[in-house]
Amino acid sequence: MSSSDTCTGKVSVEGSQINLPAFTAIPLGFIANELITNAAKYGKGRIAIRLEPDAEHGYALSICNDGPALPDGFDPGASKGLGMKIVRSFTDQIGGELRIERGADGQGARFTVLFSAAVVQPLSPNAATS
Ligand SMILES: Nc1ncnc2c1ncn2[C@@H]1O[C@H](COP(=O)(O)OP(=O)(O)O)[C@@H](O)[C@H]1O
Ligand SMILES: [Mg+2]
Repeated sequence: MSSSDTCTGKVSVEGSQINLPAFTAIPLGFIANELITNAAKYGKGRIAIRLEPDAEHGYALSICNDGPALPDGFDPGASKGLGMKIVRSFTDQIGGELRIERGADGQGARFTVLFSAAVVQPLSPNAATS
């Protein structure tokens, strides 16, 4: 069981301090905003927000909520909501990966964005043609 599942408060925030380039930090802020809003909207009980190192990707930002279990086969791509579109598109923009699962007890939901903090300049839109 991870520490995000053992928080005692209603909302817990845990994380390492990291420096991110603006082109990663700004989209990540939108992603966090959407996922925390959804956790408050669809979850019940505790919400845990956690930023931790990830051996493969660099960092993992996870937003986990207690409450009703995410439906089987939940597909964020099939959702008509704007929130999931923003989360998916900004995750792609920062070269990240989105993982969606239930909480450790099979209840609630956990959305994790795996991303790198490495400073890599994004490709210019004209890069392919010049
Ligand atoms: N934390 C969550 N727990 C359970 N269901 C969720 C959660 N986050 C998103 N969903 C489901 O995914 C759908 C799409 O989310 P979103 O695109 O943000 O749209 P909206 O919040 O406007 O309904 C929601 O309608 C809900 O059914
Ligand atoms: Mg939403």
